[in-house]
Amino acid sequence: MDVIICRDDAEVGAYAAAKVAKVAQAVQKVGKNVVIGVATGSSPLATYAALAKLVEDGKLDLSQASAFALDEYVGLPQGHPESYREVIRRTVAEPLRMRSDRVHVPDGFADDLEQAAADYEQAIKDAGGVDVQILGVGSNGHIGFNEPTSSLNSRTRIKTLTPRTRADNARFFDTPEQVPHHCLTQGLGTIMDARHCVLVASGQGKAEAVKAVVEGPITAMFPGSVLQMHPAATVIVDEAAASALELGDYYRQMYDNLPDWQRVVLG
Ligand code: GLP
Repeated sequence: MDVIICRDDAEVGAYAAAKVAKVAQAVQKVGKNVVIGVATGSSPLATYAALAKLVEDGKLDLSQASAFALDEYVGLPQGHPESYREVIRRTVAEPLRMRSDRVHVPDGFADDLEQAAADYEQAIKDAGGVDVQILGVGSNGHIGFNEPTSSLNSRTRIKTLTPRTRADNARFFDTPEQVPHHCLTQGLGTIMDARHCVLVASGQGKAEAVKAVVEGPITAMFPGSVLQMHPAATVIVDEAAASALELGDYYRQMYDNLPDWQRVVLG
C-alpha cells in the first residue's frame, strides 16, 4: 500500500487525478478503453475537479472511457437529486465529458434488486473489469456502502446502512429521516478485483478511519482495511486525515525518496 500525505484537499485531488490519469493513459496506449470506478461523497470531488481540468486542457480524453459507480440508494424516487445516478451524472459524467451510456450506476430503482446486483457484476465483467477504482472512506471505515461486518469477499448486493452512515449523509437531505435505510453496493470482493485502487480522504473526521484502513488489523469491522490485501492500492490523504497515523514520518520519507519512474507527476 502506498500512503501519500498531502498538504490539503486540493493537493489530494491533484495527486489522485494524476494517478488516475496515469493509469488511464497506460490503458489507452495499448488500444483499450479505460474503465474507471467512481465514488460519490465529498472526498473525491477535488479529484473529479482536477480530472475535469486535465480533460479541459486536452491532457486526458475520457470520451471512450466507461465508469462504474460503487453504490446507489434504494428507496429514493427516480431522478431524486441525491440519488447516486444523479450525483454521478453531475459530478463525474458531465465534467469529465464521458458518454452517458458508458456511465453505470447500480439500479437501486429495480423491482428485482437481487437481479440488478447480479446484472451489475456482469456489466463490470463485460467491460473488462475496472482499471482504476476511486474510493472515499466512511467515518466508520466503510468503502462503497460496505458497512462494518461486511464479508471481505462480498459481491454487489443489498445492504442496510448503519445509523452512523445515515447521520453522516443526512447533510445531503432536508431531514435526517429522508436518508434511505438500504442501498445496492459493490462488494469488497468486487472492489478488490479492480486493478488499481486509489482511496482519498481529507479532514480530521477521517483520521480514525484512515488509521484503521492503513495500519489497523484487516477486519470486517473496518471494511476498508481489506485494501491492505490489494496489490496496487494508493491511499492519498491530507495532513488532518493523516494525523492519527503511527508511521506518518515513514510515509513522508518514502515519498521524498521515490525514484522518478515511480513518481506521479501532478498535472
Ligand atoms: C458515502 C459513500 C461512500 C463514500 C463515503 C464517505 O456514503 N457511499 O462511497 O466514500 O460515504 O463520504 P464522504 O466522502 O462524503 O465523507
